[in-house]
Amino acid sequence: MSKLGVESAFVVLARAKELERQGKSIIHCEIGQPDFDTPVHIKESAKKALDEGFTGYTPSNGILELRKAIAEFVSESRGIDVSPDQVVVTVGAKLAIFAALMAFVNPGDEVIIPMPAYPSYEAVTEFVGGIVKPVVLREEREFSPSGEEIANAVTDKTKVIVINTPCNPTGGIYRREDLEAIVEVAKEHDLWIISDEIYEDIIFDGRKHESVLSIPGAEERSVMISGFSKTFAMTGWRLGYAVAPKEVADYITKIQLNTVSCPVSFAQKAAIDAIKGPWDEIKKMVKEYEERRDLLYREINEIPGFSMIKPVGTFYAFPNIKKFGVKSSEFADMLLEEAGVALLPGTAFGAPGEGYLRISFATSKENLKEAVNRIKAFVEEKFPNIS
Ligand SMILES: Cc1ncc(COP(=O)(O)O)c(C=O)c1O
Repeated sequence: MSKLGVESAFVVLARAKELERQGKSIIHCEIGQPDFDTPVHIKESAKKALDEGFTGYTPSNGILELRKAIAEFVSESRGIDVSPDQVVVTVGAKLAIFAALMAFVNPGDEVIIPMPAYPSYEAVTEFVGGIVKPVVLREEREFSPSGEEIANAVTDKTKVIVINTPCNPTGGIYRREDLEAIVEVAKEHDLWIISDEIYEDIIFDGRKHESVLSIPGAEERSVMISGFSKTFAMTGWRLGYAVAPKEVADYITKIQLNTVSCPVSFAQKAAIDAIKGPWDEIKKMVKEYEERRDLLYREINEIPGFSMIKPVGTFYAFPNIKKFGVKSSEFADMLLEEAGVALLPGTAFGAPGEGYLRISFATSKENLKEAVNRIKAFVEEKFPNIS
């Protein structure tokens, strides 16, 4: 069987559930899934589609009305002119990531991935026989990769640069000038860019999402991936999308056709209403994430030995625990077993995540306060000399 990694979040969740079955109390900060329900008007729209009998196969690239709505949304938010032909609605953003890497990477080709990174990029690259060239995301640069760092990773085998902003797991966003420099590198070496922007709407402090597609010369060499899971609290609906040059969009469609045929019919109808709004519920969710971010930022930095820069987007905090001199995976295991807090080691996102933990704040403030209290009590007992 070909090598294929798995997301640690699911493994940790299973372990945490087992501990709960044994009667232990666990605070869940491991999973990257909004703790909100899908807004009512979106659910109503799916119900209506079902009642109207919209229950058959759809075109493999998604229904035209949804592709039009996505094309409009992406065109407006990026200041470009995307046509519905360039849009493929996929079964989750994950399928878009898989298909885009399949499209570009042949055995022996190199894929540059700023890391720590969402685990699928590495898993799928290796699955298709590609070679991962990590570029370490550094805390000193707020986890934004410089053009120089990316350029230094390029060889004559490089095919693709994968970027992700806002970034899971760091909570950082890529600086505009870094994105511009990455596009320059891609142009110079004739590379593809896969830009995962699934957290584009979960962004704080009044900041605006910077998309690679808004940079001149990027659109013709990029696959932009986004979706409904995070913004609209629709993880279980399995709906994402890719925006790409038409021939690449057609290839992604073929992969979808030969694997899952098409995205779920009535979910697509609901997605039209999701994207068209109203967005009031989304704004409320983002405000709540921001308040939780503030709480964690304040409280985590009070824990001896922990330090954390402020996440600017996503619902992840990425504290630095290097002072403890303990491997991230061991530290995360101890927190689960001894403190009853489930979270992920930074290394769940590749070796460059060593020295960090990922705390998902897609859970209530009460839970987060309790998690912080437990971590603090654990540190004070186990590491009394740390400051
Ligand atoms: C960066 C990133 N990309 C893609 C996905 C997958 O999204 P979807 O649920 O649409 O497949 C996730 C989910 O955690 C993610 O964090």
